[in-house]
Amino acid sequence: MSQTSPEKNTVLMEKIVSLCKRRGFIFQSAELYGGLNGCWDYGPLGAELKRNLKDYWWRKHVQEREDILGLDGSILTHQDVLKASGHVGGFSDPMCDCLLSRARLRADQIDPQSGTAYWFTGATNAESAWSVERPYAVLVSSENDGDKARKTARQYYAQFLTDKQISPKALELVGEHTEILTDTTRFNPDNGSLLTEPRAFNLMFQTRMGASADENDESAIAYLRPETAQSIFVQFKNVVDSNRVKLPFGIAQIGKSFRNEINPRNYTFRSREFEQMEIEYFCKPEDGLRLTDEWLEARLKFYEEIGIPRAHLHVLDVPDGDRAFYSKKTYDIEYEFPFGIQELEGVAYRTDYDLSVHQKASGKSLEWFDEETKEKLIPHVVEPSAGCDRTVLALICEAFEEETVTDENGKSEIRTVLRFSPRMAPIKLGIFPLLKNRPELVEKAREIQKMLAPFMTVFYDETAAIGRRYRRQDEVGTPYCVTVDFDTIGESGDELRDTVTLRERDSMTQERIAIKDLRSFLLDRIM
Ligand code: GAP
Repeated sequence: MSQTSPEKNTVLMEKIVSLCKRRGFIFQSAELYGGLNGCWDYGPLGAELKRNLKDYWWRKHVQEREDILGLDGSILTHQDVLKASGHVGGFSDPMCDCLLSRARLRADQIDPQSGTAYWFTGATNAESAWSVERPYAVLVSSENDGDKARKTARQYYAQFLTDKQISPKALELVGEHTEILTDTTRFNPDNGSLLTEPRAFNLMFQTRMGASADENDESAIAYLRPETAQSIFVQFKNVVDSNRVKLPFGIAQIGKSFRNEINPRNYTFRSREFEQMEIEYFCKPEDGLRLTDEWLEARLKFYEEIGIPRAHLHVLDVPDGDRAFYSKKTYDIEYEFPFGIQELEGVAYRTDYDLSVHQKASGKSLEWFDEETKEKLIPHVVEPSAGCDRTVLALICEAFEEETVTDENGKSEIRTVLRFSPRMAPIKLGIFPLLKNRPELVEKAREIQKMLAPFMTVFYDETAAIGRRYRRQDEVGTPYCVTVDFDTIGESGDELRDTVTLRERDSMTQERIAIKDLRSFLLDRIM
C-alpha cells in the first residue's frame, strides 16, 4: 500500500473494502436487512486472518513467556465493577444533534468554522394564523448568503407546522439578526444548521440480567464490557492466589468489547463491537516508567513480526493534558491507514489506580506482599492494549498492492496481490493438480492436501488454467502454491518423481521441491 493524495487514498480504501467483500474477508453485519451500523462479520478468509493474529499474539505473550498468564473473562459485567472503574459515571463522549437533520455529531470532532450566523426568534404563517417561537440560527460563509440561511431556517421551522399542506416557503421569519463568528463549533458543517448544546453520552451497552419482574429494578442492570481490562483487575487476587507468581508479571486477555460509538466509521476502524488484545503487566512502582518504554519497544517489534514495518508506524508520546489523570505515561502506536494516521494500540502506565479503586469499592485487599522487603503494596500496572480488528485492517491495508505484470508474450495486466507475511496469511498453500481430468495428478494433489491440512490451512483448486489459479491465490495473499504435474508422477524419470513446482507469491519464481520436504519448508516460514 502506498499513500499519495487524499483522493487516491479514498479510491484505495474503496478497492480494499470491495476486495474484502468479494473474496470473503469482511461483510457488513446483517447486510441482508440493510446492515447493522458499526458491526462487522468476518468471512472465511477474514476469520483465518484474525485467528492467525490472535494466535500469534497469544503465543508470543502467553505461551512463550513465563511471566504472563492468560484469562478469559465474561463479557457481561457486574455494574459495581464498572461503577468502581469510573465507566458508569464517566465513560462518555460529548455529543450534539443537528436541529435540522437530527444527525448526531461528536462535539469534539467538529471542525471549527467561521462565517455569518443568521439568527431568528421564530416564524409565522399569516394565512393560517400559525406561529412558533424558538431561537434558531444558520451559519453561512458571508452576508451574501442570507437567502440560503433563510431557506434553511424555513425548513427548520416547518417541522413544527401542524398543517403539513403549508409550504416552508410560505413562512415568514421573525427576529432576524446577524453575528460574525470565528472558529465556532456550534453549527453542523454539512448544512450550517445550529446544533444542540453538547451532552455527555455514555458509550456502554446496558442490559438487564435474569427475569426480574420489575422493569425498574436497578440491581438487574449489567453491561457488555467496554474493555477487557476490568476483568483482569477484578480477578487479580484469584490469579495470584491460584498461581505462583512474583512481580513483575502480567495477565493477558483477548476478547470482545462493546462501545456504542456515536459515529462508527472508517470501515472496521471504529466499530461498536470489536476485539481487544490486552495485557495488564503488574510491577513495583519504581519499575513502571522503565517497563512502559520496554513494552513500547516489544509491541513495535511485534508489529514488524506480523508484517507492519516500523516505517509505517508512528509513536505518539501523549502529552500531560491529554492523558487519563491517573496515567504517568502513555504512548499511542499509530498506523498510516489510507484514511489517515490513526491509533492501533495504547501503551499506558496506569499506576496503582485500577487495583486501588477496586480495593476501595469491594472492601477486599488487593495488596501484594513483597517477600523481599516484607512490605505490602498495591502493584502498579503497565497496559499494552491493542485492537484486534484495527490490526487486521492495518494488515490488509499494508498487504494490498496492484502491480502491472507482463507475461512472456509481452502482455501486461494488473495483478492484485495481498502481500501478507506467511505467518498471517489466511491460506498458507494453494495445491493444484495440473489437469483435473487426470486421476493420478488429482490423487497426488489430494494426498498433499491431506498431509498438510492438520498443520495449516491449505486450499485445493483444480479449476481454470494454472495462471488464473495463481492470480486467485495472489488476491487473497496465499504465499505459496504447488502444482502437481507429470514430473511428479514420474513421467520424466525418477529424479523428479514426488516433487512439485513451488511458486512464491511475491517474486513469482518457481522451484522444484520434494513433497516430503514441504511440511518443514512451510512450517519454518509460517511459525
Ligand atoms: N483498556 C484500555 C483501553 O481500552 P482504549 O484506547 O480505549 O484503551 C484500546 O482501547 C484499543 O482498543 C485501541 O487502541 C483500539 O485499537 C481498540 N479500540 C478502541 N475502541 C475501538 C473501536 N470503537 N473500534 C475498534 N477498535 C477499538
